[in-house]
Amino acid sequence: MSQHILVAVAWPYSNSDIHVGNVAGSYLPADIFARYQRLKGNQVLMVSGSDAHGTPITVKADAEGVTPEEIYQRYQPRFLDLFQKLGLNYDLFTSTHTENHFKVSQSLFLALKGNGYLYTEEQQQWFSEALNRFLPDRYVEGTCYLCGYENARGDQCDNCGNVLDGTQLLNPRAKIDGSAPELRKTTHFFLDLAQLQPQVIEFLESRKDYWRPNVVTRSLGWIRSQGLHGRPITRDLDWGIPVPVDGWEGKCLYVWFEAVIGYLSAAIEWAQINGEPDAWHRWWTDPAARAYYFLGKDNIDFHAILWPAELAGAGQTFARIFEETEGKPLNLPYDVPANEFLNIQDRKLSGSRNWAVWALDFLERYDPDPLRYYLTAIMPETSDSNWDWDDFVSRNNNELVATWGNLANRVLSFAHRHWDGNVPDEISLRPADEELLAKIEAGFENVGAHLDAVKLRAALGEAIRLAGEVNAYLDAQAPWSAVKTDKAAAGTTIYTAIRAIDNLKTLLSPFLPHTCEQLHQTLGYDAPLFGEQYTETQQDSLGEHLVLRYRGAEAGGRWAPSALEPGRALREPAPLFKKLEPSVADEERARMG
Ligand code: MF3
Ligand code: ZN
Repeated sequence: MSQHILVAVAWPYSNSDIHVGNVAGSYLPADIFARYQRLKGNQVLMVSGSDAHGTPITVKADAEGVTPEEIYQRYQPRFLDLFQKLGLNYDLFTSTHTENHFKVSQSLFLALKGNGYLYTEEQQQWFSEALNRFLPDRYVEGTCYLCGYENARGDQCDNCGNVLDGTQLLNPRAKIDGSAPELRKTTHFFLDLAQLQPQVIEFLESRKDYWRPNVVTRSLGWIRSQGLHGRPITRDLDWGIPVPVDGWEGKCLYVWFEAVIGYLSAAIEWAQINGEPDAWHRWWTDPAARAYYFLGKDNIDFHAILWPAELAGAGQTFARIFEETEGKPLNLPYDVPANEFLNIQDRKLSGSRNWAVWALDFLERYDPDPLRYYLTAIMPETSDSNWDWDDFVSRNNNELVATWGNLANRVLSFAHRHWDGNVPDEISLRPADEELLAKIEAGFENVGAHLDAVKLRAALGEAIRLAGEVNAYLDAQAPWSAVKTDKAAAGTTIYTAIRAIDNLKTLLSPFLPHTCEQLHQTLGYDAPLFGEQYTETQQDSLGEHLVLRYRGAEAGGRWAPSALEPGRALREPAPLFKKLEPSVADEERARMG
């Protein structure tokens, strides 16, 4: 039975380029998972967009003397360019700066308000006399009151990773001019998390047996030790979504409160663009649908606590406000397989200090699949992991090129030379052939089980191990010499190997879509494994928006063993991967820092 699967991917702030830490943390695992689910025949909806509001964007705009809108419009096309090059198959990558997202967010806010989960309260907020303005979130910096880090921001500490109460920062200073701010009173809407706490605990308890321990332990531990308290969800800021209440002009919804709503609004936008405006319900209000959220560990609180609280608190009231129907409650996350952090050369990644590998820049010099391969092999699923250039080069050469790429190329070239470019057709399978094929076909179960559990590293490791089995089989059968003495036996071996390669191509395709697509063509298939991406401009009252979309109707890939028919015509093989010189690692290290 085909299942509806929402693949919800963290929304990058549109204030800087994307580095490999972001890719490994959320975007790549989401795409691998989505591709696998599509191959299984499930109905996938993979959505995300630019997180275009809040102080991350305005601080950058102020520093450059441009509008926040310009900042968002600068990065949006760069994101889409990267996602197309890397093959991240979003059904829709939009942004939070759309009329639809404003409307959905305001409706959800009003639903929470109508259900009694919002209250207003006077709050202390840093204010700068010199600048004559409030300094929300990233406009103030100081010493973290939890870990002592001196460059903590008002919203979060990059050192200990905690979400902060900005008013408690020690030695506060205004980000803009370094001056010392003072605390002033201002009124804000608060989300009554204390009242929603029982629902959040029940939600987490119902998921704790299958969630990653780091995610569920952190969230439940936090609630049990501190309890949930009301959190302000509006800000004294003019870039963002206006608070939909009379008398609140000049204040906006807090960026985190509305960015998470993007998972819902993007599904709604996708349905509208497709001319099927109700289609989003299949992923959002059918209780049989499953929603998987892909993000890095610094975003866990927002996705495991804040967002479920917003959804639970809005309930059916959202539907009443948004589309004037009785509606149904909105689905809570099924899984939040958050990743830990990726370090670079044993040091903490830092974009601002250029201690990073920038994804678009990387793709100027290397192909996308080696990056996808390496990032999956070192994916920080259970603990922080480390990007190391020597390791990248050696895994590329020893695993991608030697174990997998050469296997495919050697066997297909041999078939070309001796069987006239066809799969051998004079075959009679022997026990060793049957045994190999059984091992490889078991991969659909074994690799699939890891993928279902979002254990992508293990899934890739198992698929590559199976490629090693084919190499061992070929060493034992030695068709390269057998072809001279017993061509039929060599033909059976090559047939078996090609069929194994055909299966491995499917098993590896969620990880290595570009080269598997190439191999798929070489193996004589016409329909591609996956669909295609394209960009499009949408227009609404806020302006023009470039979005990324996906068309999958042509795709023919299936997560099932191949029944490669003897005699099938092959196309001319070409190498799948390039060997890299060890000196590459030195050159790349020299670029950083
Ligand atoms: N923009 C945030 C970040 O880069 C992530 C937001 S995920 C969202 O950390 F869905 F909540 F938007
Ligand atoms: Zn800290």
